[in-house]
Amino acid sequence: MATKWAQFVILAILLSIAPLGQAIPSQTEEAVDKWFKNLPHAKPKYEKLHFFIHELVTGPNITIVPVAKSNFTDKLSSRFGLVYVIDEPLKVGASPDSETIGRVEGLDVSSSKEKLTMLAAFNFVVTKGQHKGSTLSVLGRLADYSDNHEFPILGGSGDFRLAQGFIVFKVYSVDPATGNVIVECRAQFLHY
Ligand SMILES: *[C@@H]1O[C@H](CO)[C@@H](O)[C@H](O)[C@H]1NC(C)=O
Ligand SMILES: *[C@@H]1O[C@H](CO)[C@@H](O)[C@H](O)[C@H]1NC(C)=O
Repeated sequence: MATKWAQFVILAILLSIAPLGQAIPSQTEEAVDKWFKNLPHAKPKYEKLHFFIHELVTGPNITIVPVAKSNFTDKLSSRFGLVYVIDEPLKVGASPDSETIGRVEGLDVSSSKEKLTMLAAFNFVVTKGQHKGSTLSVLGRLADYSDNHEFPILGGSGDFRLAQGFIVFKVYSVDPATGNVIVECRAQFLHY
């Protein structure tokens, strides 16, 4: 575990993605103390976000990759044990040309031996607009591809600290030629 973190820190320094010791003002110890002390007086804010996930399963800009499976995954129709990693753009519309406003990064794990059922562990990050840099952490179970799916939002960061709510996913379209999928998402949540 320590080794993994050490590797991450070294990587972060190399990539300069996390300049150490330069926390942004709202994340200093004092600012966070103040934020927590004010919490009993703070009113939860209700937020609604609407966007589309563009999942590309083929082509040069593939957004979902299988990374692991068990030695009997291929024998089961449920594909139990298969693990995908995703990094997919969030766009304001269903058109590929529409503006990208965020990304969803995470894991899809086939976690049922009976029928195709995915454990989804996703980080949503806003990359544009007033909430830029804020994240939502989502953990859910995807069991029926034909229906709306409700995934719990378990928390958030930045503007979305202590987020609680749901994201509803709905398959908007599947391109029969490529297999690429567009998923419509509606996030509705409280945060402070
Ligand atoms: C892949 O992404 C690159 C960089 O954003 C873009 O220039 C290119 O057109 C994309 N290719 C396809 C097939 O979408
Ligand atoms: C999978 O691997 C386990 C552990 O090595 C082994 O006992 C088992 O027989 C293997 N199953 C198949 C279907 O190959």
